[in-house]
Amino acid sequence: AGPCDIYSSGGTPCIAAHSTTRALYSAFSGSLYQVKRGSDNTTTSIAPLSAGGVANAAAQDTFCANTTCLITVIYDQSGRGNHLTQAPPGGFAGPESNGYDNLASATGAPVTLNGQKAYGVFISPGTGYRNNAPSGIVKGDAAEGMYAVFDGAHYNDGCCFDYGNAETNSLDTGNGHMEAIYFGTNTAWGSGAGSGPWLMADFENGLFSGQGSKNNAGDPSISYRFFNTILKGGPNQWAIRGGNAASGSLSTYYSGARPTASGYNPMSKEGAIVLGIGGDNSVSAQGTFYEGIMTSTYPSDATENSVQANIVAAKYATTALTSGTALTIGSSISLRATTSGYSDRYLAHTGSVVNTQVVTSSSATSLKQQASWTVRAGLANGGCVSFESKDISGSYIRHADFVLQVGANDGSKLFKEDATFCPQAGLTQGISIRAWGYPTRWIRHYSNVGYVGSNGGVHAFDAASSFNDDVSFVVSTGFA
Ligand code: AHR
Ligand code: AHR
Repeated sequence: AGPCDIYSSGGTPCIAAHSTTRALYSAFSGSLYQVKRGSDNTTTSIAPLSAGGVANAAAQDTFCANTTCLITVIYDQSGRGNHLTQAPPGGFAGPESNGYDNLASATGAPVTLNGQKAYGVFISPGTGYRNNAPSGIVKGDAAEGMYAVFDGAHYNDGCCFDYGNAETNSLDTGNGHMEAIYFGTNTAWGSGAGSGPWLMADFENGLFSGQGSKNNAGDPSISYRFFNTILKGGPNQWAIRGGNAASGSLSTYYSGARPTASGYNPMSKEGAIVLGIGGDNSVSAQGTFYEGIMTSTYPSDATENSVQANIVAAKYATTALTSGTALTIGSSISLRATTSGYSDRYLAHTGSVVNTQVVTSSSATSLKQQASWTVRAGLANGGCVSFESKDISGSYIRHADFVLQVGANDGSKLFKEDATFCPQAGLTQGISIRAWGYPTRWIRHYSNVGYVGSNGGVHAFDAASSFNDDVSFVVSTGFA
């Protein structure tokens, strides 16, 4: 059985079921999600390998070979057509043209389920999915339930990495107009034990860990790599429950009455669905989504416990974040541009500015050092790498506003994430180097300056023209 078969048996069927990793019904063999590739902007849909099975990641890999790919649609498996697509602007605008949010990379969150490769939805700040006119998602004070499986190691304190019920006009229409799962370290409203991240409920204008919009010491900081999160709510009653999605059982972090602050009892739910954003399209958060569902009745703890067992049996596990020629930690490398007319240039820096410069074996030692990088284990993720400047020890290549810089490691979470890159087999040759926190973005030279560019995005340095060549670098032993 799949999770939604279990909810049906419990009398609380799924009315929305989203996953890029697997079928959530044992009989489901339709499309799980759609991807669009950069080479020709065509799309294809990815289905399970067999009914009820894991997504056919190999079909995606073939379709996306030697180009970039985005997730354009996350299909609803419930049969109600409650698909998630690129979120439109609301109270806040997204970074794409016309204020739309970014789409997620199709390859940013590789995992395995029972040993078979699949991809989750890696949400960077600016990324979001939404359905403002779904069928059957509850409104008002009516009861509902939901779960979502997230990457417990991918979060931030921005507002708001959510999955669940939100406003149908993408605006903040007041307290009680949302009921969505939140995950992260935002402390503007509520918090739990320790320093987070926490599962909380986003009820609009408030993230709640318990009844008050304050600290609930019973809501634990999470360190599970795979985190199963549950939220359910009905008339003057709601609960948050969670557990390690890879083993063991669920715990209840709060179960009880609605918040006493005005507007939350009764609730005024509107029945749209969000993923990765707040109700008003607040678009500053990050996180990774693997699977989730919504119901239109209040599921029992027993049903949720059976679903947890089903998720554990799916055996989510990590897999390599890199591909292609491996870079040796501790080695010094130089990275040669490959775009025709620029292939005598190497990724280098002048002060804090990252650029490309013509370097040869007879160049001055200072230039050779500026064009050499020591490979370090990724500051934010040991499965990827960071590039330490050869001539300014303790300084690394990082991006800020998507422009590359060489900067001193200040130890902050943001610095480490901005300085972590996941090399892949080159889109045309050599290697192509993806930004860990923005997997739609790759180290690119543009007008001989270094950026993390996305293929066809809104900035000049995102230009689709020459993209594959501009992000492909040949690795050699460092000049210095
Ligand atoms: O409730 C927290 C956030 O506040 C909501 O997600 C957003 O709509 C508002 O800004
Ligand atoms: O480069 C993109 C983002 O811009 C970085 O993560 C952050 O440091 C800056 O705001």
